[in-house]
Amino acid sequence: MPKIVNSWNDFDPLKRVIVGRADNSCIPPEEPATSEKVPIDSPMRGMWGPRPVATVEAANAQLENYVTVLEGLGIQVDRPTPLQWNAPVITPDFRTDSMMTQMPPRDILLTIGNEIIASANSFRCRYFEYLAYWPLMREYFENDPEFKWSQAPRPRLTDKSYKHNYYDERISLEERLVRTANKDFVTTEYEPMWDAADVMRLGKDLFIQHGLTTNRTAMEWFKRYYPDLRVHAVNFPGDPYPIHIDATFVPLRPGLIINNPHRRLPEEQRKIFEANDWQIIDAAMPAHEEPPPLCYSSVWLSMNCLVIDHKTVIVEASEVHQAEQMDKLGMNVIPVPFRDVYAFGGGLHCGTADVYREGTCEDFFPNQVEDPTRV
Ligand code: ALA
Repeated sequence: MPKIVNSWNDFDPLKRVIVGRADNSCIPPEEPATSEKVPIDSPMRGMWGPRPVATVEAANAQLENYVTVLEGLGIQVDRPTPLQWNAPVITPDFRTDSMMTQMPPRDILLTIGNEIIASANSFRCRYFEYLAYWPLMREYFENDPEFKWSQAPRPRLTDKSYKHNYYDERISLEERLVRTANKDFVTTEYEPMWDAADVMRLGKDLFIQHGLTTNRTAMEWFKRYYPDLRVHAVNFPGDPYPIHIDATFVPLRPGLIINNPHRRLPEEQRKIFEANDWQIIDAAMPAHEEPPPLCYSSVWLSMNCLVIDHKTVIVEASEVHQAEQMDKLGMNVIPVPFRDVYAFGGGLHCGTADVYREGTCEDFFPNQVEDPTRV
């Protein structure tokens, strides 16, 4: 029987991938974890319910085109099965009035070698999002005898998991930046909580962003769950809403990472990269001044590219500066329009989850210096 699942990083040759769908997507009502995520001046504050049909259709059209481009590159594409998200979630511990989407598979599924693990998201509205991927997981399980189908411990998401009175409309952007630089986030350390998109995989090393969606307890859990891997906690002062590492710190090939110039990795956290001759360079500026309407993410989705192999990358079609930089770095750039999808949960990387990339678990950091990020 064939091997279906294998991926150790974000740049080895991609052969099979999941691409999200916009169907039935909702804007969730406010809850302890999301109130902090929606910028205070966003028109999405206080708004919730199904997203407008015309925007769902436009997003799906761009997703279909993305699938066609990927298939044209010889990559097999799998799609999730939409659920009716416009329904409450009720558990013994909480109730929230709506779920969200199956557009960003990257937030939910983490592929490490022959294992795909469903994450432990801190948003109550995302509690059942993994179900959209269960038909695919079942199929991989049936056909790939080595595939490990896993689920992280499910957080209870009671009030103990969030700081209360953390959210305050009166706090200024400067105060918010001080707070995130001090690693003061809305989540507590009561139980492991993490989004898969906070984890950057580089073979034997996992670099995990400590932010609004992933806590330190999760990193401790990763360390115990993957004793053969090295877990690093990174954070990026300068991001007022630190959620997901893939619009901040994006590896393009062995030895090269682009870093958001507004959210630089602090000097003291660079040691492990410097000791192993990795170059961290500033990403190009975004082409847009504003994200599209009803979007959770920032303009830095410009960096949220999908690397196909060490020489090929897909960049959002209007992100001309990012494309030019990639070209200068020796990459072949394939432009794909994706801005109509952004509002549903992110860019070209967020909109996918790895199933199969060639390659094995490499050690990209053999020189283990004293490393302040090590968990
Ligand atoms: N949260 C990330 C950003 O908006 C994706 O930059």
